[in-house]
Amino acid sequence: MKTFTIAVIAGDGIGQEVIPATIELLEAAGARHNISFDWRYFDWGGDYYFKHGAMVPANALELLAPHDAILLGAVGHTSIPDNVTLNGLLLPIRRGFDQYANVRPAVLFEGVDSPLRGYKAGEIDMVVVRENTEGEYAQIGGFLYQHQPDEVAVQSSVFTRRGCERVIRHAFELARARNGKKRVASITKSNAQGYSMVLWDRAFDAVSKEYPDIKTEQLLVDAAAMNFVRRPASFDVVVGSNLFGDILSDLSAIVTGSIGLAASANLDPARRFPSMFEPVHGTAPDIAGKGIANPMATMFSAAMMLEHLQAREAGQAIDAALRATLAARDVRTADLGGTSSTADVTQAVIRNLR
Ligand code: IPM
Ligand code: MN
Repeated sequence: MKTFTIAVIAGDGIGQEVIPATIELLEAAGARHNISFDWRYFDWGGDYYFKHGAMVPANALELLAPHDAILLGAVGHTSIPDNVTLNGLLLPIRRGFDQYANVRPAVLFEGVDSPLRGYKAGEIDMVVVRENTEGEYAQIGGFLYQHQPDEVAVQSSVFTRRGCERVIRHAFELARARNGKKRVASITKSNAQGYSMVLWDRAFDAVSKEYPDIKTEQLLVDAAAMNFVRRPASFDVVVGSNLFGDILSDLSAIVTGSIGLAASANLDPARRFPSMFEPVHGTAPDIAGKGIANPMATMFSAAMMLEHLQAREAGQAIDAALRATLAARDVRTADLGGTSSTADVTQAVIRNLR
């Protein structure tokens, strides 16, 4: 029996619904694959903020560090500015644990319709690899004349050669390991961002030489957005900066059916720190508390967590159970055109576990 110690941060909104559902599934998969979980719950989020005046305690990273992985729901509260909640909780973990590769697969599954006409299951199968520690999210800047009529804000993006190279290398390694088209597309805006993204382009050129077996293309982000819609089936691995990867991964999610299926892994590939697994979606305040959120994005993220923890069989069992549930088309939440509840979907996925 293998035991994993997992830090659980359900967070806010539908995070409180999709996380328990995913834990129920992980328990069921664990029982079938000789794995047990030691869940350590952290009640950080909006309510914690109202009680303590901060999203997390000062030693939050120290508290999280000893875990094998972190499972996170969603962060954000309608009465707290988003930049306060996210820079208080989610983003410091990505940066502090050097989770520099944010891996976001987008697959058109059997039983799911793309809003784009004519695509069959499996034809769209890509993964966005997003730089996750620097770039446009570096939080370097400040205000001048703050709250005055002529206030000024400066926010700098930070691109380091090391930061670009390591995430680009991760993308090439993934393209090699995947049973895919063996392609990496690099996304920048280096026609306009003439320093930072020119450095990115140079890093991409250098790293790509180490992978002669992988085909490459370099796209400007505006053209990439168009081509995600015009020719989504041509993409395999797509690598981009923190902000561009954020935007493009919502687009890749919707062209493959729903953001309710979009999983993500915030990886420290060097394994010095715990990696973090979370759905791409947010707290969804419009449906929170109703028990109708799609738990599948978190469940697919949990499968990625097991894969990262080298519990491959259990991870693949969860992935297969999710695919089987989708293919059956009967039990599904509203984002996929159904009327099922979070609990209905959870039970259906568990029934499909083998
Ligand atoms: C995501 C989210 C976050 C991000 C927000 C909540 C800060 O949109 O994980 O994609 O921009 O990284
Ligand atoms: Mn996002």
